[in-house]
Amino acid sequence: MILIDGKKVAADIRQEIKEEITSRLENGGKIPHLAAILVGEDGASHTYVNLKMKACQEVGMKSSLILKAADISENDLLAEVQKLNDNPDVDGFIVQVPLPDHISEQKLIEAIDPKKDVDGFHPVNMGRMVQGLPSFSPATPSGIIELIERYKIPTSGKHCVVIGRSNIVGTPLALMLSRKSYPGDCTVTLCHSRTKNLKEMTLQADILIPALGNPGFLKADMVKEGAVIIDVGTTRVSSSETKSGFRLKGDVDFENVAPKCSYITPVPGGVGPMTIATLIKNTLKASK
Ligand code: GUN
Repeated sequence: MILIDGKKVAADIRQEIKEEITSRLENGGKIPHLAAILVGEDGASHTYVNLKMKACQEVGMKSSLILKAADISENDLLAEVQKLNDNPDVDGFIVQVPLPDHISEQKLIEAIDPKKDVDGFHPVNMGRMVQGLPSFSPATPSGIIELIERYKIPTSGKHCVVIGRSNIVGTPLALMLSRKSYPGDCTVTLCHSRTKNLKEMTLQADILIPALGNPGFLKADMVKEGAVIIDVGTTRVSSSETKSGFRLKGDVDFENVAPKCSYITPVPGGVGPMTIATLIKNTLKASK
């Protein structure tokens, strides 16, 4: 079993980006600038956004964090998005989700200038991605594709089972893995909450990607011997062993599943760091 080290791959990518930014600065270029809008007090969202800001500092990028109270109106938040669209110094920005219930995530996403949409959530970027055109592709699926590529995991003709059909992960990832390319050329099954006989599906998977946010959901008896497992789940669970009182837990019952796999990603240290590295990469692209 090979443990896929997302932390190390993400650090390599950050180093590559840092070198590119340094050489750009030496040639009189601009420092790329990522902004993030964060609404409310959700602890996990604050942690993720802080990690994104920290990654910017590490590679020598400029970052701005725009914090807003949970009771901000939808119109005021749309005005913040417009300010960032209009700010020529900001190359790319994100609106961290989830947003409070009174704000339409879709409306906010559609208000972002697709050229600054480094999350790749805007319908223009999603649509371009579907058609294989240059676009910002969503960070988590792109990060997974890059992990598969850097570990040279064979994908052609493999049966890939993705569990979870979100716009952010499952749906775009299923498309990317079925594309005529490497990584890709998979036969993809996209499973979700209404899938019947899920275990029958997962047992057929050469590559199994749970992205449902249900800690420890995927058990050893659902996994074929030798499968590749990419665990997208990152749920905060309470823990008496950490200072914060929380730890991250994946969708995979890691201890029992890992011995059956050819490759597996840990949580934390698997997909999560890759999501952030891809976001930084997209920001560098946006600044070009
Ligand atoms: N919430 C969970 N993942 C993400 C992400 O990749 N981008 C944004 N904007 N919000 C998220």
